[in-house]
Amino acid sequence: MINPLEHLRPEIRTLAPYTLAHREARVKLDANESPYGPSEEIQREIRAQLDDIEMNRYPDPDATALKTALAGFLQIPADRLLLGNGSDELIGYLITTFAGKGGGVLYPTPTFSMYGIIAASLGQKTIEIPLEEDFQIMTDRFLAALRKNSPEIVFLASPNNPTGREFPEEVVIPVLEESGAVVVLDEAYIDFTDHNGCLRLLDHYPNLIILRTLSKIGMAALRLGILTASPQILREVEKVRLPYNINTFSQTAATVLLRHEGALREQIRTIVSEREWLFSALSKIPQLCPIPSTANFILFRTDEPDRLFGHLLNAGILIRNLNAPGPLAGCLRVTIGAPEENREFLSHLQNFFQGGK
Ligand SMILES: Cc1ncc(COP(=O)(O)O)c(C=O)c1O
Repeated sequence: MINPLEHLRPEIRTLAPYTLAHREARVKLDANESPYGPSEEIQREIRAQLDDIEMNRYPDPDATALKTALAGFLQIPADRLLLGNGSDELIGYLITTFAGKGGGVLYPTPTFSMYGIIAASLGQKTIEIPLEEDFQIMTDRFLAALRKNSPEIVFLASPNNPTGREFPEEVVIPVLEESGAVVVLDEAYIDFTDHNGCLRLLDHYPNLIILRTLSKIGMAALRLGILTASPQILREVEKVRLPYNINTFSQTAATVLLRHEGALREQIRTIVSEREWLFSALSKIPQLCPIPSTANFILFRTDEPDRLFGHLLNAGILIRNLNAPGPLAGCLRVTIGAPEENREFLSHLQNFFQGGK
């Protein structure tokens, strides 16, 4: 009998599948999604367009209409965009394109887990540099680690998940200048900050790549990640992109949604003002220590993370329990929901600390 597992790559043998418990909850504040879907009217418009899809035909491999709509929304020329089935797919393309000569993939931790998982599954070395205690980066220490390790790729998520903190330009620029690596700035949460990220640096740094996504602003189901970089980088990444990676349903629905930019921006404004409100409310609870965030979630520490998580779950409210030995000990992460969801979350939280455990 042939044992196919004899041929298994050792790095796959040691990996565990990325299982996300898909838990149903009445109030879902665990996955950094937007609480808002499109209005009835926009849904009707999408349905009308979906009716015209030729299901027997492959998608437009260049996603031309979608790229045109994205160019307007992001203020990035259409020919400087490369799309992925979520930014997860783009992270895989980048590691495939640039890592492989032994330098490896470096990122500060804690951060988005897929950098490490995808690098490991592609057989690449991962180099994790712990953030400081308050989840900030210390430029000198980080640069020293870069020099010591000479990675091929550096990932910086800004704002970072799960901390919600940004890496300012004063950090990003020396990394671009001194690392000798391809630097991927993952701006998945940039829409919730008060600025437009580091797009303007693209003209000055040929080793800079910026990732964006539509997942956090109401289109998680469509799986649309966006990469922008210099034409020379785009040419190379394009070689590993799978030909029809963006399906026709997603291309069509996102093109319609992006035409309603006003509605999307209004939703984002509400989420940002709710984040400010919730942060201030959490700060007033003496048993909690919330970390300032410019994303659509807030990380907070407490002495009783598991019991609090269970208490909320019993009330039908699902947040993310990140409590584990290490820098995230005691940490829970709550995604900003709709105003009524945030109030319900807060009231159960207050109830827990007032003895209603
Ligand atoms: C920093 C960061 N980058 C990328 C992603 C993945 O985005 P996408 O849904 O486009 O794959 C996430 C999702 O949580 C994230 O937190």
